[in-house]
Amino acid sequence: MKIEDLMAYLASLSAGGAELDQLLETAVDGLSKMDPRFHWTGIYELFSDDVLRLGPFVGAPTDHAFIGVGNGVCGTAIAEKRNQNIPDVRQISNYLACSTETRSELVILIRSGERIYAQIDIDSHQVGAFDDDAVAKVQRVADWLAKAYEARGPRLEG
Ligand code: SME
Repeated sequence: MKIEDLMAYLASLSAGGAELDQLLETAVDGLSKMDPRFHWTGIYELFSDDVLRLGPFVGAPTDHAFIGVGNGVCGTAIAEKRNQNIPDVRQISNYLACSTETRSELVILIRSGERIYAQIDIDSHQVGAFDDDAVAKVQRVADWLAKAYEARGPRLEG
């Protein structure tokens, strides 16, 4: 699937009244089909107890359904309030392994200014898989989903 096709599909679902959960599932599914280097693609949502909870994903099941702020690459993105692009996870001391085959990992925050709703997490078996083009595509989806979260209003009780 191409990025333009995914963005158009998301827009059409949203216009048709789709719930946020359906939009998240569609985004994850579309991203996972966009690049053969994306071996695990998922969304973690940030709840008000400051714990990330695993949402929809495509790829191998993971033990990390809950991740605290500051833990692993995902929790570090929240603690530092910035995206993470790790070319080789073997260099990261607090990495939480989902698969022993993972080599690089990208976390893009779904945010509106200071407000962080969730994150898109992608693992690749290839070292340095997330080049500028890949990052830009994931960022587009994350920015679009942030608007969907904004439109839905507050929830996410701990
Ligand atoms: N590797 C992540 C954990 C999530 S799994 O990759 C799906 C981390 O270090 O936070």
